[in-house]
Amino acid sequence: MKSVYIETYGCQMNEYDSEIVKSILCENDFELTDNPDTASVILLNTCSVRENAHQKVLHRIETLKSLKRQNDNLILGVIGCMAQSLKEELLDDGIGVDLIAGPDTYRRLPGLIRGVEHTGEKAAELKLSRTETYADVFGMQDQGANAWIAVMRGCDNVCTFCVVPQTRGRERSRDPKGIVDEVKQLVDQGFKQVTLLGQNVNSYRFENIDFADLINMVSDIDGIRRIRFTSPHPKDFPTRLIDVIRDNPKACKHIHLPLQAGNDRVLEMMKRTYTSEQFIDLAALIRSEIPGVALTTDIIVGFPTETEDEFQDTLRVVEKVGFDSAFMFKYSERKDTLAQRKYPDDVSEGDKTSRITRLVDMQRRISFERNQAHLGETFEVLVEGRAKKPDQLFGRNDGNKIVVFPDNGASAGEFLNVKINEVTPNTLIGEEV
Ligand code: 5AD
Ligand code: SF4
Repeated sequence: MKSVYIETYGCQMNEYDSEIVKSILCENDFELTDNPDTASVILLNTCSVRENAHQKVLHRIETLKSLKRQNDNLILGVIGCMAQSLKEELLDDGIGVDLIAGPDTYRRLPGLIRGVEHTGEKAAELKLSRTETYADVFGMQDQGANAWIAVMRGCDNVCTFCVVPQTRGRERSRDPKGIVDEVKQLVDQGFKQVTLLGQNVNSYRFENIDFADLINMVSDIDGIRRIRFTSPHPKDFPTRLIDVIRDNPKACKHIHLPLQAGNDRVLEMMKRTYTSEQFIDLAALIRSEIPGVALTTDIIVGFPTETEDEFQDTLRVVEKVGFDSAFMFKYSERKDTLAQRKYPDDVSEGDKTSRITRLVDMQRRISFERNQAHLGETFEVLVEGRAKKPDQLFGRNDGNKIVVFPDNGASAGEFLNVKINEVTPNTLIGEEV
């Protein structure tokens, strides 16, 4: 039996895809190993979202080459978004990669690996599919607090900075029957929380079932306690979804709403199809309809031609909305995106650094203020594991905030009530009550 070691980079969708790959391989007489040194196949499931994601994997391949020198038969594969984006370029001599497979080809991985083994030839599978949702393949998730589950794949939006339409293809929704069956199995395995994943969950539709219906269907499953999802698009956030999050006690009161930029000219160039005012109004509606909701976001600074004044607009929106937390990035030009074809990457590295530093500082202050408002509150916390600090555990509250508390022997997957008596910008600190 061939043993396979898989390493995952990038987003939660990739984490889930690695579980799908594990399932497919195990059903085809491969076994899994946690040790790359003894594996006969090493697969890197990769990300293309920013250049540093590529660089990380290229460095990793460089290190893994020493294992190949020790073991001639070792097969090194790159799968996922970077394979789809760089294509055969990755198979160039000298790089050391034997096979590449895009995100829609994982059912063919067993054959692909055996082909490389028998012929010694490099191999590629890069066809994107309009229908593949791995509907009948259940991920192989280990025990833990949260299980990921992809409900749709691909993306039909045209955000000009984003490589995902190129790497993951057209949008398609998975049959809710498969989703419900997979969640039932996860509950049997002990999971109490699932996170429904899609590049744009608002567009989930299978026959007459939309995303709000899907959340209700999943919440009807006995044993599931919390349902999270990521990510919706601000351009078409359904009011019915707001109602479901407000009214369904299992739907977590946390919405990740990517802003990307706070200036209307930049938003237009990004083809986000909303204005900063529409975003602010949506955030206000969500906050008024769902008391206590946590709002988080993604922001890019230094998009082509963004001026200092336009960046200041982003700061103004961030201040006005008051996100609980944010992922903030410098613009990174990606191959074959609309932005790469149309606009020069002309904001200097120095300006990008200066903007992100100021944005991060502002968001840190806002996160701290929002966390301070939680002092004295008691939250139900789903325990995830050991915290970095000794003798402390951590988990998350309904709003997805990290809560740290003294180790009381609780294990991952348990629910506890924790009263908050100290906060930092990123953490709530308390004790079980
Ligand atoms: N450069 C920088 N950040 C990007 N993102 C997506 N594409 C790029 C890019 N080319 C960010 C967006 C997105 C998050 C997942 O990554 O903010 O929401
Ligand atoms: Fe995920 Fe996007 Fe990275 Fe692909 S490119 S792994 S979809 S974050």
